[in-house]
Order: sequence, then structure tokens, then C-alpha cells
Amino acid sequence: MALSISTAFVFFSLFVLTTVNAAFDTCSSSSSPSADSELSVFHIYGKCSPFSSPKRESWIDTVINMASKDPERVAYLSSLVAQRATSVPVASGQQMFNIGNYVVRAKIGTPGQLMFMVMDTSNDAAWVPCSGCTGCSSSTVFTPNTSSTYGSMDCKLPQCAQVRGLSCPTAVASPCLFNQSYGGDSSFSATLSQDSVRLALDVLPNYAFGCINAVSGGSVPPQGLLGLGRGSMSLLSQAGSLYSGVFSYCLPSFKSYYFTGSLKLGPVGQPRSIRTTPLLRNPHRPSLYYVNLTGISVGRVLVPVAPELLAFDPNTGAGTVIDSGTVITRFVQPVYTAVRDEFRKQINAPISSLGAFDTCFTTTYVAQTPAVTFHFTEMDLTLPTENTLIHSSVGSLACLAMAAAPSNVNSVLNVIANLQQQNLRILFDIPNSRLGIARELCN
Ligand SMILES: *[C@@H]1O[C@H](CO)[C@@H](O)[C@H](O)[C@H]1NC(C)=O
Ligand SMILES: *[C@@H]1O[C@H](CO)[C@@H](O)[C@H](O)[C@H]1NC(C)=O
Ligand SMILES: *[C@@H]1O[C@H](CO)[C@@H](O)[C@H](O)[C@H]1NC(C)=O
Repeated sequence: MALSISTAFVFFSLFVLTTVNAAFDTCSSSSSPSADSELSVFHIYGKCSPFSSPKRESWIDTVINMASKDPERVAYLSSLVAQRATSVPVASGQQMFNIGNYVVRAKIGTPGQLMFMVMDTSNDAAWVPCSGCTGCSSSTVFTPNTSSTYGSMDCKLPQCAQVRGLSCPTAVASPCLFNQSYGGDSSFSATLSQDSVRLALDVLPNYAFGCINAVSGGSVPPQGLLGLGRGSMSLLSQAGSLYSGVFSYCLPSFKSYYFTGSLKLGPVGQPRSIRTTPLLRNPHRPSLYYVNLTGISVGRVLVPVAPELLAFDPNTGAGTVIDSGTVITRFVQPVYTAVRDEFRKQINAPISSLGAFDTCFTTTYVAQTPAVTFHFTEMDLTLPTENTLIHSSVGSLACLAMAAAPSNVNSVLNVIANLQQQNLRILFDIPNSRLGIARELCN
């Protein structure tokens, strides 16, 4: 089996090499979506990203690599929902450094400085590495002192109180500095700042974000983070009436190294007819987008799972969230096991494992792949095969692209992840408290 995997990788690499020249440049700003509030979304390791590696590994390796960071992300989301405190930390340092996936371009400051920001629907805050930062990668940092509109935010401002790890001295007027620990033995310090942020053609003045000054005991990836949650520091809240609490995204396929999807901010240009399910709100974790997943079908079989394993419970945090920062969908262990067992039964092939994936088979069986359907209140989502399986385009192995939540956390949370969201438009409509999903070929 190991032999056939590496053969697949070699073939895939050749395939990439031969298609490089044929691909046209979709990265330049002239080919960006034209609407005022529409941004290109691209894969962090894709061609349009400055973070793509010149000697690119095969995309299945990339996905396996990225998915290996999922347990930490899911543990973070689980820890969030397990806490019942009503004061919400702006972000946990532990996980903010561990997601990649999809980025958008933003310009910060006057004149605007181009930054690449990871879209994160489960966070509220925005973060960027700033000039002079010790421990940050130097390639794309924001330089506050060349922006005429930059300002640090003062300790007495209410936003400062929302930043976890606050370290304001007792003296009255001083910048809101904070120091957060992450990953056990690492920490970073940042200044709560504000400046103009330009997204597509929209300018948001005085946008509050964390400007990272120093990192110790670990490394911070060079990109920033754009929180698309619905808490008070998030883009939607800070943009106020500009976006009316509405946005949607379409994530390009993981395989479409060269292409971009889109992030549409505001109600204009959103799909008119789209199936929706109610968004549920957990008062303890208002930034997370919970939905009511009521069942999962594999082929025509409704997988038998105890309803309490899927039920929304704001007190324990149990339920299902839609997340842009987790790579593969994670179900609590008994749910995953039931789905996987039914899937294996229907595919009826010899099964092997690969990285995080425990249900892999040779691609000769792909035609037998049963459709996986997520049943939500008032909406069913039948996943395209591309969103169900991960496989090398010329290779010989395919895997069910889902897994169980990590066993080392007392997880009650199911997470619908971004590989399952490719080539779908996902609409977040907060005023109407609904989440819509429509098929769209976005790359
Ligand atoms: C901005 O700050 C950096 C150090 O962080 C310094 O090297 C540079 O000279 C400053 N530039 C201006 C225009 O003040
Ligand atoms: C954060 O604070 C701790 C304790 O004061 C300190 O040891 C650490 O170096 C600080 N981290 C940064 C990045 O400044
Ligand atoms: C979720 O759906 C189930 C099944 O229809 C229903 O019993 C339950 O009340 C719903 N939960 C919420 C929070 O809407």
C-alpha cells in the first residue's frame, strides 16, 4: 500500500508541473471580483498566496498536514464551548496560530499596506504581525509608523477590557498592551490598535485589531487573522450597518491551486433563492455559528445515532458548528464511528488508513462512493463526491475526508469543516438568524 501511495504522489507532482504553464494568472488584482464588497478567497498554500511553498508537496500531503492541526483546533473550539463565562476572550493564542486554509487580501493603514488575512468564522478579532516584532516572520508585517491613520488604543477604552491577558499598568493613559500565552510554553504580546482597513473597495475607518509586537518560545506564521464571528470585536460588528450582519463565502476546491473563491460582504449580490437552516445562538459563546444537525445519511441509510449526540445544548456547548478554520469535518466519536461503519459497509472495499484518515481504499472503488447527506433543520446538504473524499487526482487511493473529534478532549462538539464546504456558497445572515447553502462552482 505504501508503494502505491508514493507512486501516486510522483504522478501527481508530474501532473502539477505540466499544468503550471497552462494556467493563467488569476491572482492579479485586475482579475479580482469586481463588486465593491467582494474579495477573492484563496488557499493559503495556493499560487496566489505569498505563503505557498516553491517546492510544493502534493495536495493530499498538504491536506494531511493541515488536517494534522485540526485536533488542536477542535480542542480549542471544545474548550471554548465548555467554558461558561460570559466574558469572551477575543481569541485564544493557542489556536490562532494554528489555522491556515483560506486567506483574503486586506489593506491596512493610510496609504494601505497589503496584508493576507486568514478567514476565521469562529473568532472575532483581527490580528496582524507588526514591524519590529521579534519572533514574527518578516515578510508581510504591518508597519504602523508609516500609516497616517494608525493609533494605539488606550487602556480605558471598553475594547481593551475584552482582550484576554490584559496587562495595563495602573497609570491612566497608556496603550492597551496584552500578553497571551499559547501552546503551553509560548507567549506573544500585542497592542490593541486601530486603523483604516480596506476590504475590496470598502474602507472601514478605526478598525480595532491586535498588532503583534513580540513572540517568545514559538513561531508565528506571517499572515494575519480576520475574525468573521459575530461577537463584538468581529468584522460584522465593527462594520455595523455597512454589511448589515450578512456575508457569504465560496471556498475554492483544495485541488484548485490556481483559483480563487470569493467572500461577499453585505446583503447585496447574495443568492436570492437559497435553502437555509436556522442559526442557533449559544449565549455563552456568541461568536460561534451553531446549526441544528439532526442526522447524517450515507447513501439511503439514515445512520443510527442517539439524538443527544447531535442535540444543541448551550449549557454544555454540545451541538454542531460551521467553521472555516478546521480542515476536515469532525464528529464526536460515536457519531463518526457510526457514519464510517456505514460508509465502509457500502463501499465494500479493503480499507487502509492514511494520516488522519482511517477509511481509505483504492480509487477503483470510487464509483461506489455513497452520497453523504447532512440533515439540518429545514435543509439537507448532500455532499458532492469531491467534498466527501480526498484523493490524488492521478493516484490510486481515496479516503473518507472526515474523522472523529480528538479523544483527549471531552468533546461534545461536531464541526463542519472547510473541505466539506468547497464549491458551495455558505451564507451567514445574522439579522434573520439563518445559514444558507447553495451549490456554486466558485473556482
Ligand atoms: C518606523 O519604525 C521602525 C522601527 O520599528 C524604524 O526602523 C523606522 O525608521 C520607522 N519609520 C518611520 C518613518 O518613522
Ligand atoms: C509575556 O509575559 C511573560 C511574563 O511576564 C514573559 O515572560 C514573556 O516574555 C512575555 N511575552 C512576550 C512575547 O513579551
Ligand atoms: C433540532 O432538531 C430537532 C429535530 O427536528 C428538534 O427536536 C430540536 O428541537 C431542534 N433543536 C433546536 C435547538 O432547534
